Amino acid sequence: MHGKQVLITGATRGIGLAAAEALAARGANVAIVGRNKTALRIAAARVTAAQRKAAAVDTLIADLSSQAAVRKLAAEVLARYPRLDVLVNNAGAMHTRRQVTEDGIELTWAVNHLAPFLLTMLLRDRLQASAPARIVTTASAAHQGARIPFADLNAERSYRGFERYGQTKLANILFMSELARRLEGSGVTATCFHPGLVATGFNRNNGLIMDLGMTILRPVSRSPQKGAETLVWLATLPQSALANGGYYFDKQQVMPSPEAQDMDTARRLWEVSEAQCASPRRGAETP
Ligand SMILES: NC(=O)c1ccc[n+]([C@@H]2O[C@H](COP(=O)([O-])OP(=O)(O)OC[C@H]3O[C@@H](n4cnc5c(N)ncnc54)[C@H](OP(=O)(O)O)[C@@H]3O)[C@@H](O)[C@H]2O)c1
Repeated sequence: MHGKQVLITGATRGIGLAAAEALAARGANVAIVGRNKTALRIAAARVTAAQRKAAAVDTLIADLSSQAAVRKLAAEVLARYPRLDVLVNNAGAMHTRRQVTEDGIELTWAVNHLAPFLLTMLLRDRLQASAPARIVTTASAAHQGARIPFADLNAERSYRGFERYGQTKLANILFMSELARRLEGSGVTATCFHPGLVATGFNRNNGLIMDLGMTILRPVSRSPQKGAETLVWLATLPQSALANGGYYFDKQQVMPSPEAQDMDTARRLWEVSEAQCASPRRGAETP
């Protein structure tokens, strides 16, 4: 990974931070994205400490719930890095209470799906110009049983935290497979993976009962380092060994749910995502 430029979102803690450390240890120049200056500074110190040889560790600030912030982030990346070898879309969260972003988009959908969609679209040319390059997205087995609610994309009629989270993780897989199809022959690959149940900050934002639940699950959860292993493997494996558009678990390609394999749904999701990013208030909350 020497000399390779990697960009990782959600790298202030959890799986993203562990992946950033592991990639820095392999010699990559790592740029970590977070929304909090202090958290970013602490994370950057850990990534720097993990390096074997001195490489660049950069920080970029963006609250990915805001499309303006995603656009600003992409502009900064394009200005700073003449090449981008690996884009890791990892930031994500679950919210038991429905919230709406400044763009009028339901928050989980905005951060987990639309932010990676928009960021990838804005960096796509730079990735193609850097080919061979790759995009890795952190999905989840929570996509199992989920469907994309095209008739209620903003979850105005029905909202349940875990169900919504599963929809966004299904969207991650559909996005990667449609992107892979569109990138065929470009030298840029797109894959995603399920990290397993990992002891991180995940679901620690949803009140005392959820927090307690995560603490109870801790003994059966993986470490962030173990959870990041497949991400690091997908980011470093020889390109020829990757199944473009593939969904992985524990360094093996596995089949996602039937819904996640439906290319008509993937195409339709692409179109509505483009519309939501072009004009966030379209199909979003009516004031
Ligand atoms: N943990 C699991 O068991 C598990 C299982 C399957 C999939 N996943 C997926 O793994 C990914 C990483 O999660 P994790 O488990 O490592 O959880 P985590 O420790 O909570 O880390 C989540 C990261 O995402 C960032 N983030 C959240 N909302 C953001 C926003 N609006 N703007 C910018 N950054 C934001 C967080 O930044 P802050 O520090 O600023 O909050 C943090 O760095 C997620 O996509 C999650 O869906 C996790």
